Amino acid sequence: VAQLIAGNWKMFKTAKETISFCSALRARLEPVEGVDVVVCPPYTSLDEAVGVLAGSGIEVFAQNAHWAAEGAYTGEVSPPMLAELGVTGSLVAHSERRQLLAETDESAAQRIGGVLDAGLRVIACVGETEVEREAGETEAVLRRQVEAVRAAVEAGDRPRLTVAYEPVWAIGTGRTATPEQAEEAHALIRGILDVPILYGGSVKPENAEELLSQPDVDGALVGGASLDVESFASICETAASLSRL
Ligand code: 13P
Repeated sequence: VAQLIAGNWKMFKTAKETISFCSALRARLEPVEGVDVVVCPPYTSLDEAVGVLAGSGIEVFAQNAHWAAEGAYTGEVSPPMLAELGVTGSLVAHSERRQLLAETDESAAQRIGGVLDAGLRVIACVGETEVEREAGETEAVLRRQVEAVRAAVEAGDRPRLTVAYEPVWAIGTGRTATPEQAEEAHALIRGILDVPILYGGSVKPENAEELLSQPDVDGALVGGASLDVESFASICETAASLSRL
């Protein structure tokens, strides 16, 4: 099975920057073989990304979506609006949204339902904070978060669900989980919900191989290193070479 490498751009790249990045990424990776590649630009760049990447096999996901198809929700964007653009999925409940934007397990479950109802795929993010890890609560936190995700997804929709394990203390800090820490968390998650599980948190070309080689790591959700064509492409190539083994 091919690994999935998803680039979460967060609030980086204007629409113009997206066009040049996506053209360069496409030229660098094509033909994309042995790895599933996804980019997650900001809303304002989605249309451009879909246009430039059309026919390349590289998919475009949003970083978030509301649960309703439409309604009086000022500032929000709905799953059918994304689907019409040619976006094929969305991240849900990234830790930055949980920490800074009041995302909860309940709102995450609602969003997952809305995104799946629109026919899109979901990457649902989970992960413990440093305080939780140090208090020995990692397992309890992951169990609670993953069970909320599982409860939100009907069995028939499972093929469109991916989970991303992103320990909060490893995001944007340069502190990667060790391959053993990642594997331990992934195995725990898989015991609750058996879907593809991505690792996220300071994934770089230098550490991608050891993380992606773990038996329960099915890909990566890449932040900072996804903003540069060469480093993102290099991680995608590492994943492709592993899936050929
Ligand atoms: P970094 O790769 O920058 O640590 O970000 C990880 C992340 O949050 C991806 O969603």
